[in-house]
Amino acid sequence: MTYDIIQPHALTPACGAEISGVDLSDDLSEPAIAEIRRALLQFKVIFFRDQNITPDHHLAFARRFGDLVDYPMVTGLDGYPEIVPVVKLEHETHNFGGIWHSDTTYLAEPPLGAILVARELPPEGGDTLFANMGMAYEALSDAMKAMLGGLTAINSSAKDAVAKSRKDRQKNMGAVPDPLVAEHPVIRTHPETGEKILYVNIGHTIGIKGMDAAESGPLLEFLFAHQRQDEFTCRFKWQPGSIAFWDNRSSQHYPINDYHGHKRVMHRITLAGDTPV
Ligand code: SIN
Repeated sequence: MTYDIIQPHALTPACGAEISGVDLSDDLSEPAIAEIRRALLQFKVIFFRDQNITPDHHLAFARRFGDLVDYPMVTGLDGYPEIVPVVKLEHETHNFGGIWHSDTTYLAEPPLGAILVARELPPEGGDTLFANMGMAYEALSDAMKAMLGGLTAINSSAKDAVAKSRKDRQKNMGAVPDPLVAEHPVIRTHPETGEKILYVNIGHTIGIKGMDAAESGPLLEFLFAHQRQDEFTCRFKWQPGSIAFWDNRSSQHYPINDYHGHKRVMHRITLAGDTPV
């Protein structure tokens, strides 16, 4: 694939590319936005370095890719409800979303993607891993693909590891939102590329429709282990001014919790998605 305006530099053969050639605080041209979108689809997650953007620039850039949605489980920044602070403070031990997951698959229409800006970083650690779920699907046997093709996954916001990871951020909310549940195909078809995607995740998937736990448990455990194999992943080391933009339909991510005693502050905007089919 060729690019005229941006220069993507792949991180691994599986996913991820650092994009140079654009300043995200500019009002980018339509062709530049189209190339960024093409790179997002190709690499599943794209990264920008040394960007000096304000919350208003963050919002303006995100809006070029679609409608924004509020995150249902924690409140946004004062004056910027669409920007969710992803924070771990010095005294905290859980990090927000600190398990492999695709964002909010417990919603009927999970997000297209998210744009995360690094605001304050620990001196070391705090990297984020990403994994390519199209590649994870392709690596399954034909027999497994055929079986999964007819199955529906049940996803919940209440799985213990994720629920615990957001508790610190919910302390100041009046009421914690009720658990949310949604059913989606185990294999979804990407709405823009037509690629088949393995669409379960250990963060939110609790079962398979029509199976009891004795059947779905081992199958899901196999899929969770399969989809996080190193060969499907890339690892991003954040620096001040770094930005990640992931396609939430075709990737998963896992922020590593290896910086106890230090603060990490990120700002996230989430883009509206569609019903997985
Ligand atoms: C998230 O799941 O939105 C957090 C990702 C990160 O902190 O790197």
